[in-house]
Amino acid sequence: MSQFWSDIVHTLTPYTPGEQPKTNNTLIKLNTNENPYPPSTQALQAIKNAANQDLRLYPNPNSDTLKQSIANFYNLNINQVFVGNGSDEVLAHIFQGLLKHNKPLLFPDISYSFYPVYCGLYGIDYKTIPLNKNFEIVIEDYNQNNGAIIFPNPNAPTGIGLGLKKIETLLQCNLDSVVIIDEAYIDFGGESAVPLIQHYPNLVVVQTVSKSRALAGLRVGFAMAHPDLIQGLIRIKDSFNSYPLDKLAIAGATAAIDDVAYFKDICQKVIQTREVLILQLQQLGFTVLPSQANFVFITHPELNAKHLALALRQQNIIVRHFSAPRIANYLRISIGTDAEMTQLIQHLTSIISNT
Ligand SMILES: Cc1ncc(COP(=O)(O)O)c(C=O)c1O
Repeated sequence: MSQFWSDIVHTLTPYTPGEQPKTNNTLIKLNTNENPYPPSTQALQAIKNAANQDLRLYPNPNSDTLKQSIANFYNLNINQVFVGNGSDEVLAHIFQGLLKHNKPLLFPDISYSFYPVYCGLYGIDYKTIPLNKNFEIVIEDYNQNNGAIIFPNPNAPTGIGLGLKKIETLLQCNLDSVVIIDEAYIDFGGESAVPLIQHYPNLVVVQTVSKSRALAGLRVGFAMAHPDLIQGLIRIKDSFNSYPLDKLAIAGATAAIDDVAYFKDICQKVIQTREVLILQLQQLGFTVLPSQANFVFITHPELNAKHLALALRQQNIIVRHFSAPRIANYLRISIGTDAEMTQLIQHLTSIISNT
């Protein structure tokens, strides 16, 4: 606390990111949904190539090469793409530029915990809509007074995905609201809403290279929408930071988006590992929510989730526990390599047999 803080600083409840421990090779890190595989070698080479004397110059303020690659990948026009320093920054600009209206913003009660933080930062009125008892988003519940709607698809931390038909119905019922679909985890089995952008000028789809392209350390995210919405975001960005992406990030992310074969390969591996893991967890008595993401959300009728997270931590495995209502007895576990998952199952088996 300081007398020198602006008033708003006193009111903020900042987001708490998952633990990023100092390098420890024995640790199995399954707490922040990073990809267990390395980035594309083409992306790494592009970053190395970009580490040259040109770094004395500012980067392209519009990250045009990256936007073009994203546009090519998704069959869009470059003016339908916006990029930022991680999708967290893209989301922040969206909250400030597109979600503050006279009517409340709606999002699920169990969802990405950064959303209420942005609402606090930008003074946005919001209302949470409870997931049903199976932890699913019920789109009819959003047919109520609102200025905008946002949720992740698949949802986090549940991993449950919503089909495109339902997203389209939601859009049709909310033509006067901005609808944001946060697709951080879409590439692990979900159906992207990007094709709907051509038909719905109120839709924004947000993605990231942090998960499916194994580049969380590079900090690159993007939004895709009607050019008018993108223009609004560019106005916010150019009132905040003209150069959110550095030259290395632009080079690496562009090459990663262009390396489609590697991207598909690692996504497929994560999906296969997830399906095997789910069966093994069920055999140990866990209830596993149906996941279309690179993590599973699990609970056990006889185990306390918080204690279990601590017991795993003692075995050098970090998973994520949220103490929020309804999910306090659940753990979110990121999908690692097959070898990491084997170790996880071995430790869970011994913890369970010792309780
Ligand atoms: C639902 C969701 N959206 C957005 C993000 C932010 O991702 P990044 O800022 O790394 O692009 C995350 C990160 O975990 C997430 O879970």
